[in-house]
Amino acid sequence: MGINLHSILLLFFNLLPFSAPTDTITPSQPLPDGQLLISVAGTFSLGFFTAGDPTKRYVGVWYANDLHATKVLWVANRKTPVSGTDSVLSLTADGNLTLLDGAAGKPSWSTNTSGLNNPSLKLLKSGNIVLAAGSTISWQSFDFPTDVLLPGMEIGYRLKLTASPDMVVWNKSTSEYRTGPWDDGS
Ligand SMILES: *[C@@H]1O[C@H](CO)[C@@H](O)[C@H](O)[C@H]1NC(C)=O
Ligand SMILES: *[C@@H]1O[C@H](CO)[C@@H](O)[C@H](O)[C@H]1NC(C)=O
Ligand SMILES: *[C@@H]1O[C@H](CO)[C@@H](O)[C@H](O)[C@H]1NC(C)=O
Repeated sequence: MGINLHSILLLFFNLLPFSAPTDTITPSQPLPDGQLLISVAGTFSLGFFTAGDPTKRYVGVWYANDLHATKVLWVANRKTPVSGTDSVLSLTADGNLTLLDGAAGKPSWSTNTSGLNNPSLKLLKSGNIVLAAGSTISWQSFDFPTDVLLPGMEIGYRLKLTASPDMVVWNKSTSEYRTGPWDDGS
């Protein structure tokens, strides 16, 4: 019989309802509302959150230990929140990262990038989000620092963030953010 302990264990792990956290989105592995990407070493989360108005949902990055996303570091769809909890962040086969508003049934935000083969989007341990295929980077969040002050957020939040010593510095000319997606030690 071809069944040994190893294959039984493999089967067991494949059937586990809770999969290990991932830091990557691929065309076949989108990120639905309710799931998170977690960076290597568990520092950052990427996922859906609300800020103030519970009917408006955003996709962003925050510290993973900040479970309720009270200090958001980066927001994708600041101007185009989605509603409901059926939205999904997905990657097309040619590398267009798109946030589909489940309630409206249409895209609410996208990176508008294309031309990649086997693209993937990875949340790096620096907190940068990089969209790449091999060594070709077509988009990264550090190139698009956003105003993280969302409607409903406390005034002064941004000041607190800037004063925080472990704040990620969104400086796109800083060389450490320029080393490419797969040089992050993971
Ligand atoms: C993507 O393209 C759409 C349609 O032209 C535009 O409204 C949107 O602002 C673009 N998104 C980004 C992130 O530039
Ligand atoms: C990316 O996706 C958006 C939303 O579907 C679309 O409007 C845009 O034209 C796409 N851009 C590219 C370059 O494929
Ligand atoms: C960003 O990095 C450049 C080059 O290292 C530096 O000159 C500049 O002062 C930095 N900007 C901020 C806001 O830290």
